[in-house]
Amino acid sequence: MTAKLIDGKQIAEQINVENAVEVARLKQQHGLTPGLAVVLVGDNPASAAYVSSKDKMCARLGMHSEKITLPAITTQTELLAIIARLNQQDNIHGILVQSPTPKQISEEAIFAAIDPGKDVDGFHPLNIGKVAIGDPSGFVPCTPAGVQELLGRCGVVVEGAHVVVLGRSRIVGRPVSLILSQKARNANATVTVVHSKSKNLAEICRSADILIAAIGVARFVKSEMVRDGAVVIDVGINRVEDKTTEKGCRLVGDVDFDAVKQKAGLLTPVPGGVGPMTIAMLMSNTIRAAKMRHGLA
Ligand code: GUN
Repeated sequence: MTAKLIDGKQIAEQINVENAVEVARLKQQHGLTPGLAVVLVGDNPASAAYVSSKDKMCARLGMHSEKITLPAITTQTELLAIIARLNQQDNIHGILVQSPTPKQISEEAIFAAIDPGKDVDGFHPLNIGKVAIGDPSGFVPCTPAGVQELLGRCGVVVEGAHVVVLGRSRIVGRPVSLILSQKARNANATVTVVHSKSKNLAEICRSADILIAAIGVARFVKSEMVRDGAVVIDVGINRVEDKTTEKGCRLVGDVDFDAVKQKAGLLTPVPGGVGPMTIAMLMSNTIRAAKMRHGLA
């Protein structure tokens, strides 16, 4: 079987258009402009690129944005003071601190300091707790929300399916496993989480109707780990050496794309799969945060 590719860019673009329409409506009918603050500490080039694309998307949708770039030596106390200010700022409805932060800063302390009503990343313990108990009033982390939306918009039936999630990170693996097992639309799946300590990892992956790879290892998922016709969602973004390119490197996912393409039924490419969905969902969360703050949602 040769997999059909899922065009995440095109699906994210549909959401971006919907979001732009909603931003225009909020401005016109309520004089409300949703605002997002993105904070980058240090000079990790990949993080800088992600933060820039989030900032640019705000501008494109007509939203307010503030990009705050801080030196790598910033202390946790300094960053907490900036978050306290953003928590109080009326024109900011969403706050995102790009992960990873330099090692002198505890991400747990930072995420817990963000006002849960402005936590559009969905990393505050209160929002993680709401996802865990199926309370829809919180924010769902953007990449897991993007995976769920992608499956829904591609017509993949999640209900009753066996979903295997490779990885248990706070950003992707753990929350995606929680949301897809919820009693909700585009959910109700039987979810298995496998990780670095799992026994029979390949065998469990082979039993998946939907395999979500979020393990952070380039080309980890081989064709032997995929059932014929399975849906494979590749969340990985890994930079690997490639001397044939101008930059000497390129991006690959957690899936051995060329081999798995011969086996899967549906497959997301990297780049152009899950990545654009993450930004689209961040914008959706920020618009919702602005509406919630003003009693419009
Ligand atoms: N680093 C990689 N993905 C994310 C994300 O979704 N949010 C934040 N804040 N940092 C990230």
